[in-house]
Amino acid sequence: MSSVYIHIPYCHHKCTYCDFHFSVQKRSLNTILDAIIKEIDDRREYLDSKKLESIYFGGGTPSILSIKQLETIFKQLSSIYNWDKNAEITIECNPEDLNKEYVQGLKELGFNRISLGIQSLNDTVLQWMGRHHTVEQSLKSIELLQKMKIDNFSIDLIFGLPFYDSEYLLKDLKYLVNKFHPRHISAYQLTIEPKTKLHHLVQKKNLIPASDEKVAKEFLLIQEYLTKNGYIHYEVSNYAQEGFYSKHNSAYWLQKKYIGIGPSAHSYNGKERRWNIANNYIYAKNVLSGKTYSDKEDLSTKQLYNEYVYTRLRTIYGCDLKEIEHFFGKKLKEDFLRNYENYKEYFIVNNQNYCLIPNKGYLIADKIAVDFFV
Ligand SMILES: C[S@@+](CC[C@H](N)C(=O)[O-])C[C@H]1O[C@@H](n2cnc3c(N)ncnc32)[C@H](O)[C@@H]1O
Repeated sequence: MSSVYIHIPYCHHKCTYCDFHFSVQKRSLNTILDAIIKEIDDRREYLDSKKLESIYFGGGTPSILSIKQLETIFKQLSSIYNWDKNAEITIECNPEDLNKEYVQGLKELGFNRISLGIQSLNDTVLQWMGRHHTVEQSLKSIELLQKMKIDNFSIDLIFGLPFYDSEYLLKDLKYLVNKFHPRHISAYQLTIEPKTKLHHLVQKKNLIPASDEKVAKEFLLIQEYLTKNGYIHYEVSNYAQEGFYSKHNSAYWLQKKYIGIGPSAHSYNGKERRWNIANNYIYAKNVLSGKTYSDKEDLSTKQLYNEYVYTRLRTIYGCDLKEIEHFFGKKLKEDFLRNYENYKEYFIVNNQNYCLIPNKGYLIADKIAVDFFV
């Protein structure tokens, strides 16, 4: 089984923290859609299995697209791939884009999972983030999803803000959980990315990022609350009720094959990693005129091993010694065990499966993974 990711590279506005690939100029939207339709066809041989386990529309802001535009993409996908009712079909939506007709249209197209960019339950924070929705709109959008029987929705939140008190953050989280019981919650630590407004403010010394202590405290507050309230911390930034792990993101973390369509999208077919040009104009021009629009790297065993360790240590799936030996050889298995000795106290080992302990292990998962790299 495989997965498809479609990148919709437009947003209504620029958020102060975001460095994903998008444009707020929508003049080229129809040309980009033509290119996406053509890319789906051009690359029909990229994945050996045409049976899909998940389809994910990410961005940018996919909810910028009309139901008709989304339908055109679906038609093209279904001319090449097939999927059944168990496939997870997700769209990232901004709260302000949702209304009854739109959600009905999404349901009719087959979307069975909506990921909502809520980010915060405080209007001052939302403004500081450059968001163009209010807390009231957020709450209304969740109510709408529930009213329209979208059972599987996920909420994105950002923690580790420079000025928002941890106690308020926890209060917001409790409110969301008690009122809506979302199946899935992504809690992202705010990162200050180059070329963003926040980065600029930090460089000009007009903003001091949250201290490591505040970030760690909030990570643990969120974790303690959610794990005591029926959520499984299945990846560093992701929590879900039993049976509601994101199939699509899990496919990335379990090294399954996927194709990424659209500007900046990445693909992986077990041998190479490929990424499309992160420029709307050049992407569309090259796709439509039959020129190259992606770059690729053939992955060596060492690179594949490093990626395996990095992604698996951040998840509940952990590193499996049998898998390591099978895919990467005996020497890398021995290497893994040698490194493990230095970090034993952060691991839970179950049979041959090595997982980080979520509270203290996930907190430094990236540092540990880098020390395991070859
Ligand atoms: C690229 S956005 C797209 C979804 C949607 N357009 C939105 O803005 O809500 C995906 C998620 O990544 C998270 N994100 C993006 N940049 C981030 C950053 N610098 N730090 C923390 N989280 C970030 C946000 O929570 C966001 O909802």
